[in-house]
Amino acid sequence: MMNRRVFLQQGATGAASLLLTTKSNWASAASSRVADSHIEVLFDEPLGTISPNIYGHFVENLSGVLYDGIWVGEKSPVGNIDGLRKSLIEHMRKIKASVIRFPGGCFADSYDWREGIGPADKRPRRTNFWAMGESEKAPANHRYDPNAVGTNEFVHFCKLIGAEPYLAANVRSLPASAFQQWVEYCNSPAGSTTLADARAAAGYPEPFRVKYWGVGNESWGCGGEFTPQEYAVEFRRYSTWLPTYGDNLNLIASGPNTDEWSWTREFLEELLRKGQGELHRVYGMALHHYAWNLSRGKTQEWVAGKGDAVKFEPVDWYELLREGERMEGLVNGHWQVLREFDPQHRVKLVVDEWGPWYRPGSEATPGNQLEQMPTLRDAVFSGMTLDIFNRNPEKVAMANCAQLINCLNSLYLAHQDRFVITPVGHVFELYASHQGGQSLRTVFSSPSLHYDRDGSPATFWGLRGSASLRDKNLTITTVNPSTTEPRLAEIALRGATIKEASMTFLSNADIHAHNTFDHRDAVIPQTKPLSVSQGALVVEFQPASVVALNIQLT
Ligand code: AHR
Repeated sequence: MMNRRVFLQQGATGAASLLLTTKSNWASAASSRVADSHIEVLFDEPLGTISPNIYGHFVENLSGVLYDGIWVGEKSPVGNIDGLRKSLIEHMRKIKASVIRFPGGCFADSYDWREGIGPADKRPRRTNFWAMGESEKAPANHRYDPNAVGTNEFVHFCKLIGAEPYLAANVRSLPASAFQQWVEYCNSPAGSTTLADARAAAGYPEPFRVKYWGVGNESWGCGGEFTPQEYAVEFRRYSTWLPTYGDNLNLIASGPNTDEWSWTREFLEELLRKGQGELHRVYGMALHHYAWNLSRGKTQEWVAGKGDAVKFEPVDWYELLREGERMEGLVNGHWQVLREFDPQHRVKLVVDEWGPWYRPGSEATPGNQLEQMPTLRDAVFSGMTLDIFNRNPEKVAMANCAQLINCLNSLYLAHQDRFVITPVGHVFELYASHQGGQSLRTVFSSPSLHYDRDGSPATFWGLRGSASLRDKNLTITTVNPSTTEPRLAEIALRGATIKEASMTFLSNADIHAHNTFDHRDAVIPQTKPLSVSQGALVVEFQPASVVALNIQLT
C-alpha cells in the first residue's frame, strides 16, 4: 500500500451576485428576504496579531516550479528582472508576500547550497530529488538541476518582492558544518569571512540577514527516515553553535505529518532530556497537512485515495473541504501537545506546507510533475484555511502554501511567456489586508448545509471566516461552502460603528471554474460598494464564494 512516506521515499516515481451593493437593492432584498445568518464581530475580544508570515509561500526545486515558473534566465524574451519572471514578482508585491520557503520540501535534504553559488557556468549539474518522476518530455533542467538558481538568486527574488527568505537546511545528507557555513555565507558581515567575500564577489557585499531556517524537512520520511528521538538528537547537534551575527536565528524543527501527535510529543521529550533550556533552540514546530484523500473513507492508499482537480462532483467538493477543515483540529491538537512541554508557549506552529493534492492529469503544462489546476474549489479551500490561521494568531507564527507556482495549490501557473493568476492567487489578494491586523473573535451563525455522502446524510457548516482590525479598517473574510445556497447575513459590530464598506468577492456559477492561459478571467475578484443603513450591513454571500468585506470605521 502506498502512503505519502512511501511515495516520497521513491522520489515520486511512483458572492455573489452580492446583491446588497446599492441602497435600492439592499432595500428590495431586505424586504423580500429575512437574513438566515449572522456575523458578530466582538471588538473587546482580541485574539492576537495576525503574523504577516501566515501569508507565506513555498518554492521547491521541483519540476516546473523553479525552472520555467520562477527562473526564465537573463537572456530570455520573457519579461524578467535578473532572470526572474517579472509578472510573478509584480503580483507577489501586490499580495504583500511575506516569507518564502526554499529549496524544499524533500529536495532540501538532497541539496548542497555550496554548489549553487559562484559563477553560474561553473556550477555543477546534479540529479534532482524528483528526477525519477519526471516525464520523458520534461526539460533537462527539471531532471538535472543546473544550479542556476542558488542562494543568491533566491534571496534576490525575495528582496525584489519584499519577502523574507526561509531556507531549509539539509540534515539527511550534509554535515552540521555545511549548515553553519550556509548561515555564515548568508549572514556574516561584509568583508568578515571568506564566505562573505564569496557573497560579495557575486554582487552581494551586504549580509542577507536570513532569519528563518528549517532544520531538515519531513525528517520522519524523505528527510532521513528518523525516529522523533533520533531527529531530536540531530536537531540539538545542528542547532548547537550557529553563528548569529547579532540577529536572532529562528529555527524551525521538522514537525509532524498531519495528526502524528506522537512525533511532536516524542521529539520534545527527547529534546528536553538535556533540560528545559533546550526549548530556546526552537522558534517553531513545522506541521504539514495536505488534503488528498477524497475517497470518503474507502481507502487510505496514497494513489487510489486521490481525486481529480477539475472533474469532480459536489460530494468531492465537500469532501475536500472536510479534509481541509481538519487543519483547525491539527493546530489545536499540536498546540495542546506543545503545552505539555512548553507551558509558556514559546514555541509556535509553522504550517510550512498546506494545500490540496490531486492525482495527475490536470497540468496546464502537460508533464509538469505535481502540477494541478486550481479551481474555485481550491479558492474556497484556501480562504477557509487562511481563516483558520487568522483565528489562531497566537498559535500559528507562519504558514506556507504548497506551492507557489506550477505545483500543488499554486497561486500562479506559467510556461514560457504565458502566465496566469489562479483563483488561489486571487484569494491571497483578498486576504492581504489581514496581515499584521488584530484578529477579533467573530461569531458566525448560519444554518448547516446538507448533502448526500454515499447514501448517508452529511452536514457541513454554512458560513465561516475571520475578522481583523488595523487602525480604523476592519477586514472580514468569509467562505460560503455551499455549492447551491446563498446566505444572507446581518453583520453586527459589537464595539464599533461602520462608516462605509465595500466587498470584494470571488465566485462563479460553475464550481469547476478555473483560469487558464487562454481564459484568464473565469475567477477574478470583483469589488462593489456596500450600502450601510443606520449602521447596519446586510450582505448576501453567493454559493461557492470567498468574500472580503472592507469596512471603514468611524
Ligand atoms: O510539496 C511536495 C512535497 O510534499 C514536499 O517536497 C514534501 O515536503 C511533502 O511531502
